[in-house]
Amino acid sequence: MAEVPIEDVAGRVLIDHALDAAKNAHAPYSRFAVGAALLLDDGTIIPGTNFENASYGLSLCAETVALAAANVAGRLKHVVAIGIVGGAMTATGIEGETPIYPCGRCRQILNEAADMGRRDIIIYCGSADGAVMRRHLLSELLPFAFGPGDLGIS
Ligand code: THU
Repeated sequence: MAEVPIEDVAGRVLIDHALDAAKNAHAPYSRFAVGAALLLDDGTIIPGTNFENASYGLSLCAETVALAAANVAGRLKHVVAIGIVGGAMTATGIEGETPIYPCGRCRQILNEAADMGRRDIIIYCGSADGAVMRRHLLSELLPFAFGPGDLGIS
């Protein structure tokens, strides 16, 4: 049997939770459901899903919703990893073959949590059909980030 790195097991668990969260997406406009799941340093998992509204542009991404929930719990600095998945909403479920990457705004918000926790956040990007999962670091997806340090806040 092939050896699965322990971190990828964590990634799979996060993608599963993200897929579950995506079932509750409020996305009647794009019909594109996204789920996210944060892993905290004590093993807690915090889910999020996209939350659209009739003004379109004011929609909230799944990652941002999850990060805001972590913040409500006072846990922003404890975020270690995030799993993200998404796809088209169909009559039979969420469909997609390509892994979903966080948008630019969500990368910036992830950077806030990374800075608070003084760690690079692991980002697992999954496809809705479960066939693909890619592991990245936030520093790869958001190089030369603007952060609290640029404002003299450490
Ligand atoms: N979306 C997310 O939830 N996360 C991302 O990183 C990219 C996009 C949502 C926003 C909108 O509800 C839908 O996907 C289509 O753009």
